[in-house]
Amino acid sequence: MTELSKSSFPLILYIIIMHQETMDLSNNELAVLSFLSGKHEYVEEDQVIPPGMERREASNAISWLEAKNLIDVVRTEEVSYGLSQEGIRYLEEGLPEKRIYDAVEKYSEIDLRELERFLPASDVRIGLAQLAKFGLRPSGGKIAFKTIPQFQDEVLRRQSFLESVSSGSYSVLEGGLLEHFKRRGGLLVERKRTRRKMRINASGIAALKESRGGSRIETLTPEIIASGAWRESVFRAFDLSAPAEKFNGGYYHPMSILIKMVKDIFTNMGFTEMPGHYIETAGWNMDALFIPQDHPAREMQDTFYLNSSRDTRMELPEIIDLSRKVHEKGVGRYPGWGYRFDENESRKLLLRTHTTVSTVRYLYEHRNAPQAVFSVEKVFRHESTDWKHLAELHQIEGAYYGKNANLSTLKSLMRRFYSALGFKDIRFIPSYYPYTEPSMDAVAVVNGKEVELGGSGVFRPEVTRPIGLRKPVIAWGMGLERVAMLFFGLSDIRHLYRSDLEWLKGYQIKG
Ligand code: PHE
Repeated sequence: MTELSKSSFPLILYIIIMHQETMDLSNNELAVLSFLSGKHEYVEEDQVIPPGMERREASNAISWLEAKNLIDVVRTEEVSYGLSQEGIRYLEEGLPEKRIYDAVEKYSEIDLRELERFLPASDVRIGLAQLAKFGLRPSGGKIAFKTIPQFQDEVLRRQSFLESVSSGSYSVLEGGLLEHFKRRGGLLVERKRTRRKMRINASGIAALKESRGGSRIETLTPEIIASGAWRESVFRAFDLSAPAEKFNGGYYHPMSILIKMVKDIFTNMGFTEMPGHYIETAGWNMDALFIPQDHPAREMQDTFYLNSSRDTRMELPEIIDLSRKVHEKGVGRYPGWGYRFDENESRKLLLRTHTTVSTVRYLYEHRNAPQAVFSVEKVFRHESTDWKHLAELHQIEGAYYGKNANLSTLKSLMRRFYSALGFKDIRFIPSYYPYTEPSMDAVAVVNGKEVELGGSGVFRPEVTRPIGLRKPVIAWGMGLERVAMLFFGLSDIRHLYRSDLEWLKGYQIKG
């Protein structure tokens, strides 16, 4: 490899020098030039057949040579004709004038209203107009037969003209028939083609001389470098000004942009990001949050449980006992759920269903007030996905623990947070979560429609007291993909993860 790069340095210099000395011509262009140099007259494009070259390649080379001004090109426009759908139908079913003539011949006389039995109404009108030119006209609502000798000949001529158009072999000189059918309208389709003829010019001859007739290397291979053959070869110069496709590097996914934006908002509000885990125990995800053990959200259809026999006792130090006490007997004047707490339920492993689990765990580990924490993390729900639901989604979580953690602080924090996200106009409506009291949902008005943003509330004493928190906790949470739908104007939430490149490219913000 070092051998190769050592020898390729002079090669690059050589190519650059070559570029200055000679006109940049491909082998195909040179072949066309040398083909033309043998002719003295203009040559029609389809007569330019340099050996071993395909039509398309020759045409390309001709265009390039013209652009480089090495050949003179004369263009002529050629018109040709084909049959339209209607024309093809006439060819297959017969001309309307002929069909009427035949019918009338057969029945001697036909009532005009009867004619539609033999051919379509629109054809009847056309056929009668054509027959009138031969002197065959209806009278008294009927059309009667009359021999018209020149009619048969003319119809034959017309039919064979249509046939020759259809096979592409008609001659423009065919007795005014082209004019006739053009006037009838809608039967012929006109095709225009530009023909080129060309000859080499003085600059072309000079360029050909300069090329010394040698073929050029257009693709550099390792062999050419390793063998040193490049020293004797003629190279095609690089055209450094040739238009090249724009290179698209990596970009952030729109969700990543939104996540960063949310994190910045929290950080600017003085909140600290808290860590979390995808896999949690039901003890932390639910029991510690005072969610009753028979709560429907715990059921298999809402939560992804892990099939694991890992003993999670060590990961649930005193929290099991603390939860048992509060679930069974309550705390202070709060009575608890009054059922028999099942420790096995707590030990179950699951994919966290919300990030509120991170809040309670973090506060358990950081009991000194005040604390203002947030997270923007994935949560998992055993739901079937549709335009509005995902089984794997991002949730934002903000929480404040301290002396003045009360409902009005919560409302003011949420107003600040949502307004930084662009939702200036929000309302709070009463709601329910097992771990907060009171609870409220934030609702925003977007384009005249109300959209639910997320939940919030003041943590119940059944949550805070067992883990040793002496001050109140306020918290709010929200699914981020729903907000992303509003942000990016999507009507289907799944579009976010469809890897639709065209759509993704619309949100190119370089990192
Ligand atoms: N955890 C709730 C949810 O998953 C949101 C919430 C967070 C509610 C904090 C109250 C307090 O929707």
